[in-house]
Amino acid sequence: MVEDLHIDPWSSTQSTDYDNIISQFGLQSLSEIEVPNPSYLHRRGLIFAHRDLDVVLSAQAFGDPFGVLTGLMPSGRMHLGHKMVVDQISWFQSLGADITIAVADLESNATRGLSLERARKVALEEYVANYAALGLDPESTQVYFQSSRPLVQKMAFTLGRRTNLSELEAIYGFSGDTNLAHVQAPLVQAGDILHPMLDEFGGLRPIVVPVGVDQDPHLRLTRGLAAKSNWFNLNSRKDGGITIGLSIQDDNAAALGVAADGKLDRKVRQSVIDKIVADLTDLGFADILANAKHGSVQIPSATHSDRSLIRMKLLQLERSMGGLGLLQPASTYHRFAVGLTGDKMSSSLPNSAIFLTDEISVVERKIKQAFSGGQPTVEEHRRLGGNPDVDVAYQYMMYFFEEDDKFLAEVNADYRSGKILAGEMKQLCIDRAGDWLSNHKELRAQTAHLVNDFLADDAK
Ligand code: TRP
Repeated sequence: MVEDLHIDPWSSTQSTDYDNIISQFGLQSLSEIEVPNPSYLHRRGLIFAHRDLDVVLSAQAFGDPFGVLTGLMPSGRMHLGHKMVVDQISWFQSLGADITIAVADLESNATRGLSLERARKVALEEYVANYAALGLDPESTQVYFQSSRPLVQKMAFTLGRRTNLSELEAIYGFSGDTNLAHVQAPLVQAGDILHPMLDEFGGLRPIVVPVGVDQDPHLRLTRGLAAKSNWFNLNSRKDGGITIGLSIQDDNAAALGVAADGKLDRKVRQSVIDKIVADLTDLGFADILANAKHGSVQIPSATHSDRSLIRMKLLQLERSMGGLGLLQPASTYHRFAVGLTGDKMSSSLPNSAIFLTDEISVVERKIKQAFSGGQPTVEEHRRLGGNPDVDVAYQYMMYFFEEDDKFLAEVNADYRSGKILAGEMKQLCIDRAGDWLSNHKELRAQTAHLVNDFLADDAK
């Protein structure tokens, strides 16, 4: 019997049963994919799952454009958990991705009561300043505010047509007394995630969203909305091959050859099918079976690996006919470093996390008080060994502070064997945290002048 997981973005607890999460939410395990030039997050298994990352990496391999979208909640302070997302973005950026960062100021205004002015200040001074220090390249990064990008808000409305309260209830656990700001926020967030692929913001290309697994409900919603808005469906056939079907909706019926009286408009329908066939011929397929009346096109020789190419062509066709042409966003999921208090790290719980601008003395105190995987007495520890899997000091070195994989492996083994004591582990972590934080402080000073360069034109 598997535990029935409830994951929601607003909860203060979190499941760390990652295998269960993968199977219950239909994620793909990252171990099945080979990533180029893996970062520490990949090498240490800290990014454990994805959806459609292969689509993104194949664009990268072909030298085609691809983008990353992430968002920040401009309330509270930036902690080390947030840094993991930034490190992932940097890695994608090093592979050639363009980066879009949403400041969720409408969301923080509606759900946390922050003024837009305050949200702006927090976003720039607390978040973007740290992003600059962490090495993001302003050249290919665009930070924008939800409140000053009308297209994002418009998309929230447009996409809202394709879902309903029951679906939001199923995805988020909403009920009758849920504040509607919590209903609107995910729709705006869907706008955040999908709009970079509109022609005005970079055009059709794969977009990947790196998140902690608690944000997956947003991705499930957004992927569903994108798929439901598509004019052309792609289905793999049991006996091999791919079938393309038309998805007739209120706003595309006329364009797809369904007249106002519901009757088939043969001429229009035939021209749609002809366009599909022409596109497929362009891609090099020869055996194409079209049925205009049913609105279906079959390509028996197409294989699974042809899907992406065909899909992109169809999305372009949809756009040329007046549709949105949205590709489902890809995503990657990272594990959570345990909070200092044992729960989720949270900006609103100062003792649960290490913040990027904490004083070293504060960090020292926090690590000394953190949960340890050591034994109660030295004698027992030497005899039974410690458990690095639950030891916050060890975990923080692995997640945040130690670059050397080999050194980590040694520390891990020596802790298990009882050679390293719990206090010694804490001191190793404190030393590294101190180095990291003082270096970061210096970098913040050196990169402070870059903050404005990260802003998109509509954010200046
Ligand atoms: N809701 C996210 C948070 O709580 C912030 C956010 C807004 C976001 N838009 C996004 C995250 C798009 C990822 C993608 O932090």
